[in-house]
Amino acid sequence: MKEIKKIWFNGKFIDWKNAKVHILTHTLHYGGGVFEGIRAYKTEKGTAVFRLKDHIRRLFYSASCLEMKIPFSQKELEKAVLNLIKVNKLEECYIRPIAFFGYGKMGLNPKGVPVDTGIIVWPWEAYLGERPISVKVSKYIRIHPRSTVADAKICGHYVNSILASLEAQKAGFKESLFLDFEGFVAEGPGENIFMVKNKKLFTPSCGSILPGITRDTIFKIAGDLGIEAREKKITLKELKQADEAFFAGTAVEICPVAKIDADLINKGKIGEITQRIKNLYQKIVHGKEKKYLYWLQF
Ligand SMILES: Cc1ncc(COP(=O)(O)O)c(C=O)c1O
Repeated sequence: MKEIKKIWFNGKFIDWKNAKVHILTHTLHYGGGVFEGIRAYKTEKGTAVFRLKDHIRRLFYSASCLEMKIPFSQKELEKAVLNLIKVNKLEECYIRPIAFFGYGKMGLNPKGVPVDTGIIVWPWEAYLGERPISVKVSKYIRIHPRSTVADAKICGHYVNSILASLEAQKAGFKESLFLDFEGFVAEGPGENIFMVKNKKLFTPSCGSILPGITRDTIFKIAGDLGIEAREKKITLKELKQADEAFFAGTAVEICPVAKIDADLINKGKIGEITQRIKNLYQKIVHGKEKKYLYWLQF
């Protein structure tokens, strides 16, 4: 990984190479940390962070699920993100805020363990590339909502995602797809899934998934394109017979699905509605849609 100049850690800008933690960091052992993935884009008026407030709000929601008290306010972290991008002179980047139980005490109950907070920024291309991708349905199910708080972005949840990603890549697929505990389609290891059927847009209901901010963006903009969008329980058969399918998330942006297991979707090509959503999403994040400038923090 290419070094970037500065990392924000517990209120200070420190050198990339000095951003280290103790081996007894609580979260390293037990996974009880929370994080976010945000993007900043180049616009005509300079660099802008997309839906920063919403991401930081979700970070605090995730922390509250673990009774973790982040020792900064939401405003302070928003400001820190903007300053960090400035300090590192990045025009576009991925942004990773993280809060975790640090060094001080072991044992599963994190009460009394100091909370550390960091923000890292680095340039990162669309996570799954630009081309339609192959997807393998995982033998693992998405974390059960009664095993954890499924709609929080908690570090430990991502072991589920790591296992599915390893499985998919071993079988020669680019990405994985989880079903939920009832056998309905849930989401990818780091992104939500959408399908198009008869010109309408569908995505799995909340319950087992991380309800993404990109997913929310798509709901809000679908109307502008005259596309009806709604949540529903989706069976794997329905998804495989969809006219189009795509993943959506901050890291992957809008990523068309070419194939699920052995079944081609839209003959392996990006579909018309997917393309329209992708185009509008790119315009919005790059500050080219006045109506949505309120989502950008310059
Ligand atoms: C499991 C999971 N689902 C969905 C998403 C998409 O969320 P967002 O659109 O907020 O990036 C992510 C990324 O954070 C994720 O990790």
